[in-house]
Amino acid sequence: MPDGGGGSLEMHALQPGDTVTVRGPRNGFPFVADGPALFVAGGIGITPILAMTRAAELAGTDWLLVYTGRSRSAMPFVRELEQRYGARVFIRPDDEYGIPTAADLLAAAPIGGAVYCCGPTSMLDAVRTGFDDTDARALHFERFGAPPIVDGRPFEVQLASTGEVLPVSADESALDVIRRHRTDVAYSCRQGFCGTCRTRVLSGNPDHRDNRLTDDERREEMLVCVSRADGRLVLDL
Ligand code: FES
Repeated sequence: MPDGGGGSLEMHALQPGDTVTVRGPRNGFPFVADGPALFVAGGIGITPILAMTRAAELAGTDWLLVYTGRSRSAMPFVRELEQRYGARVFIRPDDEYGIPTAADLLAAAPIGGAVYCCGPTSMLDAVRTGFDDTDARALHFERFGAPPIVDGRPFEVQLASTGEVLPVSADESALDVIRRHRTDVAYSCRQGFCGTCRTRVLSGNPDHRDNRLTDDERREEMLVCVSRADGRLVLDL
């Protein structure tokens, strides 16, 4: 029985003959092989879409993929997708084509078919807004973006290369602020697990909120997409 007062949890050891029901993970973004499909992926939103393209291929579904990202080099699985599926796949990096509009993303939405979209919030918002202008029947989407900031307090980051001091307000990330001044700073998941935004800390006390760095790494580095600070951080940027 659980102790409702937040104390110990008493475990009941399984005995021979006990019945145990195990439920698998719930998939809130399933692919349904029911008519033609357009897949739209942004950045690492390709992860669930990749599995869907394989399922669509196996099911004999008529499908196309539009895959966007900042640049080819920042987009995983590009080569695999192009080699395996050829003309079914449109790789559309922003640095080659510009930021896509809803019409760009949905140009191949199939009449009477479905659109599956996974990517950053801005892309999902565009697709949701533009979907009504298509003749597709259904839109399925999964949001992939920065998590909400919990208990955020303002702090400052200083860029060591220029000495600039950038204030970070309670409801924005250091990455967002830094990228307004330094667009070359790389990032991907914005959720503290891919490690792309890893940055060396020259001084200050980071409030590490990631799921990636080891204690050793945290002595010198931080993930600026989620981690914060008390006071000022000087970053090796
Ligand atoms: S962008 Fe992935 S950890 Fe920061």
